[in-house]
Amino acid sequence: MKNILGIGAGYVGGPTMAMIAKKCPEYRVVVVDINPQRIVAWNSDQLPIYEPGLLELVQSARGKNLFFSTDIPKHIAEADIIFVSVNTPTKTFGLGAGKAADLQYWEKTAREIVKYSKTPKIIVEKSTVPVQTALAMQRILDANEAGIHFDVLSNPEFLAEGTAIRDLEYPDRVLIGSHETESGLKARDVLVNLYANWVPREKILATNVWSSEMSKLAANAFLAQRISSINSLTPFCEITGANIEEVGKAIGMDSRIGHYFLKPSVGFGGSCFKKDILNLVYLCEYHGLKEVATYWEQVVLMNEYQRTRFTRRILSAMFNTVAGKRIALFGFAFKANTGDTRESSAIRIAQELWQEHAKVVITDPKALDNARIDLKDILADIVLEPDPYQAARGSHAIAIITEWDEYRTLDYAKLYQSMEKPAFIFDGRNILKHRALYDIGFNVYPLGKPPLIHFGK
Ligand code: UDX
Ligand code: ADP
Repeated sequence: MKNILGIGAGYVGGPTMAMIAKKCPEYRVVVVDINPQRIVAWNSDQLPIYEPGLLELVQSARGKNLFFSTDIPKHIAEADIIFVSVNTPTKTFGLGAGKAADLQYWEKTAREIVKYSKTPKIIVEKSTVPVQTALAMQRILDANEAGIHFDVLSNPEFLAEGTAIRDLEYPDRVLIGSHETESGLKARDVLVNLYANWVPREKILATNVWSSEMSKLAANAFLAQRISSINSLTPFCEITGANIEEVGKAIGMDSRIGHYFLKPSVGFGGSCFKKDILNLVYLCEYHGLKEVATYWEQVVLMNEYQRTRFTRRILSAMFNTVAGKRIALFGFAFKANTGDTRESSAIRIAQELWQEHAKVVITDPKALDNARIDLKDILADIVLEPDPYQAARGSHAIAIITEWDEYRTLDYAKLYQSMEKPAFIFDGRNILKHRALYDIGFNVYPLGKPPLIHFGK
């Protein structure tokens, strides 16, 4: 039996390796992490991340050909193929701080592979890394004194959280970048055959390494750009009376444009979009491409604007003061169906409301543990409440931050009864029935549509 090792048991590594184990029973798959608590959790039924369908997937393979371990040296030594899915956050210090990728975890992994390897291996880069990182990886690996041969492949992961299992099982495409050397192409064929266990061949795309790395950054930049584009039109619609839903539908029905990723929001979050665009921006600046850098940076700046605009709208609607007013944020995760809060717009919105001395109450079905960590500096002033009805009780306003399905079907008449008056709803995801809310008595502020305001109430 051949051995596959996954280094890094996070949002990418955990689900991806579990899917490989399920689809490729001829391989023994081990996943390692430097964080022992994470490994304990992966070995239990309280997985460290929430993802629909993940527990069932893990349970179907764990103990058969899927194992989670902290013994990194042993499993590096035994592996034939190593998938690297360690985190590459944005640098917070030194050159490129705030933009460039922090590659310390990634480089540490490369050096560990060199240290513990005794046989040739295929190294598959899954973490999103700046273009040309595979070359650096190859150089570190080639510098090994034992003369062991390594082939580095780039195989970016396109799964989205909340739909990770479906995305892994039925990917739009699998991208494999390899060096165009004899052994590089051979290694590529090994990975192609691995994926061919469940992905149709025509969806497996082979490119050179640089194209593969660049495609990942570009795909995320394009997706984020669509959201910033639609969000950029929301203030315009609010002022003029145009309706962003109608505009979005009309745009999306153009088959050249398509309807995906045109939902207006409080701003995109998640671990990838901002990080990858800033990465692209940094690389462009580094290569002297100032205009290109400015172009992409604007996508991120528009997102920041959308977040702050949401808080400002709350403030101005509520008579320019929220001091002492209880405001219930419905949702803290960066999107529905995940407990992940990395780069969630909720963090900024909660902080800005807190700065205005609002009494912020946060509810979310899966993300309150992460909210506690994200808001640790202001936690003493914030209430975390799992029940949305309790969160809304005594509030002046509800703000929908995450598009959880359960927020669509709450009893809003009951919520209204329990709130201070005048009661406000700010729908940062446009998931509610605005006219019906207005009829209940709420002052309703959708995104990209004029507000529905009661006068005299
Ligand atoms: C993204 C990419 O989709 C995925 O291919 C890549 O591998 C990782 O980054 P993810 O961040 O998990 O995935 O979620 P995604 O569904 O892309 O949503 C990102 C953010 O954009 C969320 O905050 C979401 O709410 C927001 N969004 C998405 C919108 O505001 N409007 C939309 O129309 C779509
Ligand atoms: P992603 O969303 O990219 O999967 P995560 O932060 O969820 O990012 O997961 C990355 C994982 O990689 C973390 O669990 C972290 O502990 C792990 N990790 C980081 N560096 C190493 C390393 N050198 N060896 C093993 N695991 C590592």
